[in-house]
Parts: sequence; structure tokens; C-alpha cells
Amino acid sequence: MIDAYDHLLPQYREFALLPDGERIEWLRRDRWISLPQAEMALSRLEDLLTYPRRGRMPCLLLFGPTGMGKSEILNRFAQLNSSSYDKRAGITNMPVVLVQMPPTPGEADFYAELLMAMHYAQYENLRVQTLRSLARRTLSEYGARILILDEIDKMLAGTGREQRLFLNAVRFLTNDLMIPIVCAGTEDARIAVLTDPNLADRFGAIELTPWRNDMALRQLMVSFAGLLPLRKPSALDDAAVRQRVLALTQGVTGRIFRLMEVVAIAAIRKGREMIDASSFDDDDLLLPLVSMQVVANSRKVVRRRAA
Ligand SMILES: Nc1ncnc2c1ncn2[C@@H]1O[C@H](COP(=O)(O)OP(=O)(O)OP(=O)(O)O)[C@@H](O)[C@H]1O
Ligand SMILES: [Mg+2]
Repeated sequence: MIDAYDHLLPQYREFALLPDGERIEWLRRDRWISLPQAEMALSRLEDLLTYPRRGRMPCLLLFGPTGMGKSEILNRFAQLNSSSYDKRAGITNMPVVLVQMPPTPGEADFYAELLMAMHYAQYENLRVQTLRSLARRTLSEYGARILILDEIDKMLAGTGREQRLFLNAVRFLTNDLMIPIVCAGTEDARIAVLTDPNLADRFGAIELTPWRNDMALRQLMVSFAGLLPLRKPSALDDAAVRQRVLALTQGVTGRIFRLMEVVAIAAIRKGREMIDASSFDDDDLLLPLVSMQVVANSRKVVRRRAA
């Protein structure tokens, strides 16, 4: 029976046998999928992890539009280099410390967030100087080899002075601990980090760019055809499919994944069991997914037509 699903990659065939409800649940589950830009970013992060300590550590800025998969890459990296506990020595080793930026770039909030990422809970009512040295000491005790700050664009919510103080704190940590810092965020974040000349100098950058109609997108569609648990072969290596997917998602990774999930679930529910270009024509299904921009543009067209 399982051999009948030879349109799927061998490791995914068993899932096509599952009842509809379980296949839908499988589709909705989070899973890491290897993508060219993401793999490139991961290998740059690995390089930083093994970088020898020296006076001026190289840092990295990972930036790109919302939904392009920045946080997925960082979480994956943290998972691949997760912390361990040495029972005998009673020491936690946390090579990768991943911190979400607090909603405002206050230094105290930042250190509190950093301590929380290292499971340190008693930092209430402490002064900024104490928090700073506590954060510094804990990073060093945990053997942190890389510090990652996600959603760095949140710092733009602060005043100019707060932003400068925050960037100073970042610089202090990388100089003092001699570890690389990775900042991730949108294009605005890039501009913000690069306004500090001392930081601009040492930050390399990786940009995640939206998908285009090229070989990489073709490969992505072919891999969806090989892994979505549908019982009949899909026709995803098709120029019309690629055009529809790009038009509906503007090439944003998160939207492409969501779109494929929705059309695959519809293919199961309707008993069609495959996806082709016509699967992307169902407005009821797709409209909620279409970005505000596309909706706004089509309204403009309608208005123009009406005029
Ligand atoms: N490599 C991947 N494997 C599986 N799913 C992915 C991958 N990359 C992105 N996604 C999907 O895209 C969604 C958006 O990704 P993510 O949250 O990482 O974007 P982001 O760039 O951090 O956006 P923001 O700037 O809004 O924080 C994820 O929830 C996930 O569903
Ligand atoms: Mg994110």
C-alpha cells in the first residue's frame, strides 16, 4: 500500500496512510524545513560559534522582511546547540543564548530579558549596574559562546538616547566577554544598528530576500510535492503554480508555508488528494491569507474600474 505513494519521498510515505484528521494535524504541526537561504545563515552562525576569542569579535546582522524565517533560523540554531547540564560539576553549559528584545530598549529590561533567557529569576528591584554585572557573570559562567538578540527592531520604539544606551550595552557585552553577537530584525533594525559607527564596523550582514520565480522556488515546490501527505501526485513543478504562489504571498516564506498548508488541507477535505494550479483559485479559501497590500491593490483596481 505504502509503495503506491511513490510520488512522496520515502520518509514521508507513511503519513499519507494516516486518517484525514491526523494528516491535517500533521500539516499544521511546526517543523523545520531546510531552505537554501536558511541553511546558508545557519552555516554562518556555526562559523561564529567556533570563532577563536580575540579582541574584536565579528558580529552578524540577520535581516529581512517580517515572516521570512529569521526567528525560525535562530531557534533552529539554538536547538542544534542546546544547553546541557553537567550533573557532577553542577554546571549548566549554554553555548547559544537567544534573547527576545523587550518591547522598549531600556537597559534594565534588556538585562532582565537576558537573565530570563538563562533561567535566572531573581532580578526584581535590582539596579542597572547590578543587573549588568549579573548578566555578564551569568553569561560567562554558562560558557556562552554566542549571544543572539532577536527582534532588534523593537529598540526603535525608544528615544535616541535609549537607543544609544542600548547599543552601548551590546558593544560592552561583545568586548567584555569576547563573544560574537547576532542581531536579527527587519530592514529598520539594520539601519538602527548601523547608525553606531563602532558597531557598523564589525557587523557582517545576511539578508533574507523574498522568493522569486527561479530555480530555488521550483525546488521548494518540488519538495512540497514530495512531503505533503496527499495520496495522489501533485503538479507543483508548473510555471502557473509558481506565479500564483508568488502573487498570493509576495514571496514571503511564512506565507508560502501557510498557503501550502491551506491548499493541502483543502485537497484532503475535498477528497481531491492532490494540488495543481487550479487549487489556488478558490477565493473563499485563499482570501484570508492574501496580504492587506494585495487586498488594497485589488480594491484600487475595482475602484478604478467602477470610476
Ligand atoms: N525553515 C523553515 N521551516 C519551516 N517553517 C518555516 C521556515 N522558515 C519560516 N517558516 C515559517 O514561516 C513563519 C514565519 O517565520 P518567522 O517567525 O521565523 O519569521 P521572522 O522573519 O522571524 O518574522 P518577524 O520579523 O515578524 O519576526 C514560521 O512561523 C514558519 O511557519
Ligand atoms: Mg521573528
